[in-house]
Amino acid sequence: MQKPAPSDHPIHELITHRWSPRAFDAKPIPADVLRSLFEAARWAPSSSNEQPWAYIVATHDNAEEFAKMTSVLVEFNANWAKHAAVLALAVSELCFAKTGAPNRNAQYDTGAATALLSLEATAHGLFVHQMAGFDPEKARQVFAIPTGWEPIAAIAIGYPGQPETLPQLYKDRELAPRVRKPLQEFVMTGQWGHTASFLS
Ligand SMILES: Cc1cc2nc3c(=O)[nH]c(=O)nc-3n(C[C@H](O)[C@H](O)[C@H](O)COP(=O)(O)O)c2cc1C
Repeated sequence: MQKPAPSDHPIHELITHRWSPRAFDAKPIPADVLRSLFEAARWAPSSSNEQPWAYIVATHDNAEEFAKMTSVLVEFNANWAKHAAVLALAVSELCFAKTGAPNRNAQYDTGAATALLSLEATAHGLFVHQMAGFDPEKARQVFAIPTGWEPIAAIAIGYPGQPETLPQLYKDRELAPRVRKPLQEFVMTGQWGHTASFLS
């Protein structure tokens, strides 16, 4: 299903067409495409080029690893995400590897990497749905995530499915219009709350 962003200003078509579905097709993602997705994440910018991200990835055909991944999701997410071809967990290293000083941009950089992964996915006809709804402590145990690394977001990746296949709760959300704050609310100049003049 297409759900293009009704943007107020022209944006790149990859951004227009990226969205977060809950209906996924079972079709597997070829390994070379998966490599491209994580290659896109690899080329994200990061503070001091620290690249403080890691991804734990489970493909649907590996039943044991896939079950481990669904086991850390909250039920609301597991119920739809279990149909995605791939599930992943984005993890951030919270301190700089060389100095041990806190990296206050680690999560920001991990988000940037996942954003690029999402756009690369869109270019391949795939969709990415990120999830805060998972149990970070369970994820730490299940995947033996070391101290100093923090699970940030679970990620479902797959080809789009049919909204009709979803239970009503999810179907309503799937078909709901896409909404955003206006630029005037978050683009400022000079002082907090002063809308940037180029917007008027
Ligand atoms: C960090 C993050 C956490 C999210 N957590 C969840 C979640 O737990 N469950 C869910 O169904 N959607 C989740 N979402 C999806 C958002 O609800 C979605 O991105 C937002 O409504 C905007 O819709 P769009 O991505 O289709 O433009 C999350 C998205 C992000 C980026």
